[in-house]
Amino acid sequence: MIRQLPPTAAPIRTNDLIFGLWAGTRGSQPRKRFETVLREYFGSAGCYAVESGRTALRVIMEVLKSDSTLGKRTQVILPAYTCPVILTVIRDAGLTPVLCDITLDTMDFDEVRLMELVNSMTLAVIHVHPFGLPRNIDAISTITNSVGACLIEDACQSMGAVIDNRKVGTRGVFGFASFGPGKPLSLGGGGVILVNDPKWIAPFEMVTDQHDGLFSLNQAGMLESAMTWGRVAVLKLIFSPIGWWLATRLGLQRMGDDPRYQGYKLNWLSSSQSGIGHRALDHLERLNTHRHQAGHRLNVELSNVPGIRLFSMPLSGKPIYLRFPFLVENLERREALFKQLWSAGLGVGKVYQKPLDDIFPDLPRGPYPAAYYIAQHLLTIPTHPYVQDWDIKKMVDVIQQY
Ligand SMILES: Cc1ncc(COP(=O)(O)O)c(C=O)c1O
Repeated sequence: MIRQLPPTAAPIRTNDLIFGLWAGTRGSQPRKRFETVLREYFGSAGCYAVESGRTALRVIMEVLKSDSTLGKRTQVILPAYTCPVILTVIRDAGLTPVLCDITLDTMDFDEVRLMELVNSMTLAVIHVHPFGLPRNIDAISTITNSVGACLIEDACQSMGAVIDNRKVGTRGVFGFASFGPGKPLSLGGGGVILVNDPKWIAPFEMVTDQHDGLFSLNQAGMLESAMTWGRVAVLKLIFSPIGWWLATRLGLQRMGDDPRYQGYKLNWLSSSQSGIGHRALDHLERLNTHRHQAGHRLNVELSNVPGIRLFSMPLSGKPIYLRFPFLVENLERREALFKQLWSAGLGVGKVYQKPLDDIFPDLPRGPYPAAYYIAQHLLTIPTHPYVQDWDIKKMVDVIQQY
């Protein structure tokens, strides 16, 4: 059958794509408009649309470094199991990454370890909401504040997830989200910086307005903007069941792991992507509702399958399940499940197969037992709008059977 579900997908409407073509001729105006609707969406004091989630984090790091007191600190704490590019950005900013183990139950920081790691050199703690799961922030926030460090929420995989009636990304001093391929709102690339504490707006604008060549953001010209539009159009085709079938036959699905595609530029979001984003934002709720319902059903149906472990959900949280994560206790069974789900075209994924100290061997070695366990035992299955009821039934049948 010519059908392979992608692990994640965020279909863009053709009308929105066409609108992006026109927006591409309008300079920085579409970005400013997109930022206005993003501010309304998140309720943040400031929203700034940039070239990627990486760019967003880099700018936040530069803003923190520019602060006369905080700027003397050099350490940034992040989970030992997460997206490796976060660590690269911390290093690019000349700062020292410090890994903290997570828990098997939540995939969130192990609070006891975090308490041991924070000190007067901690500049920031990056709290990640993985796979669309909103993670509790209160304890992490208290620990971060106890040493006067800054809490940054990484909502790259979770835009639209809610906890305590607030969207994730909006309770840290800063937050950021990504519009990269496979993200909740995908513009083929892009990111947004959320400035949640108004006192940081002025320093933020000072850093990003610098024109002395030390640090400044550029707005892509018309040609570059047209190229970003082309990328959105191609990815729209690839992130569909037929497109993904073809891409996996050509090995294109591994392109994201290639270091050549992991760089980032210090650019604002292009005008065509901003135009598409502006229109696509009101479609996000519908995409997230589909993901939430599929994830909820999987959570219920897999909750009593022996040998399968699910992640806990805070009572006050509403996940968007960008992809549904679960742990398979037996490693041989995990391989068997991966093969079966893959050959049935069901979009199974293995994500970050190593903890960060294995990917960056110059870092101090663990132990990070939970990060190791999750890296080896995790699988994800898709929840996006191409996933039909019968796909979910097949996923559950395969997981129960093998
Ligand atoms: C948790 C997390 N943080 C940050 C990023 C970086 O976002 P971008 O790819 O837009 O630079 C990603 C992207 O995969 C991510 O998954």
